[in-house]
Amino acid sequence: MKKLEQIYEGKAKKVFATDNADYVIVDYKDDATAFNGEKKGTIAGKGVINNRVSNFFFKLLEEKGIPTHFVEEISDKETVVKRVEIVPLEVIVRNLAAGSFSKRYGVEEGTPLAIPTLEFSYKDDALGDPLINEYHAKALRLATDEEIATITKIAFWVNDILKEYLLNLGIRLVDFKLEFGRFKGGIVLADEISPDTCRFWDKDTNKKLDKDRFRRDLGDVEDAYKEILERLLGRADTE
Ligand code: TMP
Ligand code: ASP
Repeated sequence: MKKLEQIYEGKAKKVFATDNADYVIVDYKDDATAFNGEKKGTIAGKGVINNRVSNFFFKLLEEKGIPTHFVEEISDKETVVKRVEIVPLEVIVRNLAAGSFSKRYGVEEGTPLAIPTLEFSYKDDALGDPLINEYHAKALRLATDEEIATITKIAFWVNDILKEYLLNLGIRLVDFKLEFGRFKGGIVLADEISPDTCRFWDKDTNKKLDKDRFRRDLGDVEDAYKEILERLLGRADTE
């Protein structure tokens, strides 16, 4: 597949056209931002790690029957994915209280939630990705009733698969953010699943192994990202 002109640059990835109209190439960057771009930095090796971690999860989810945008990894930081129209929703699933949930509702981080919980944000940087409910999403024509139902079903399904898989590797899946796209009339899981978009805590020590180390200046950021890749792929395959 031929890599053609750049069509988009986001905070963590660049997207390039290809000679196939149905496909694009994503190229992961080492750049890191937080708080809607207010905090900026670089995490050495992040592009390579997020590409490999995300592709690992997308392949696992495809094997379980979840439709995704994944096509093929073509280099250590580039992947061919389906060219989707992104649904402008950030879909967050939570198992334990953390981050904005803890702050908003006054619940200590790490408190288990009575049920896995879903929330939507309106994906709009100018508005700061505000929290919305499904009526808002429909009222704003961000997604149809049917799309919201599909997205909700897939989001909890992803949670069931990843939560169990990660626990076997000694990692607690605290929460994560998904994005979905429209492709040939259907909904597919898109964007990425990586330490940038999930909270991963070590099961025994509760050490944070994700972007919170960058957001909160906890240090050891690169090592935490590497640790996730190593637990997923095995140490020998990540040297
Ligand atoms: P939050 O607790 O800050 O709302 O974050 C919930 C989850 O979503 C957490 O795993 C981090 C992820 N996330 C993103 O992927 N992108 C974002 O812009 C934000 C704010 C959170
Ligand atoms: N990626 C988001 C930003 O730059 C926020 C985050 O992940 O915390 O604003």
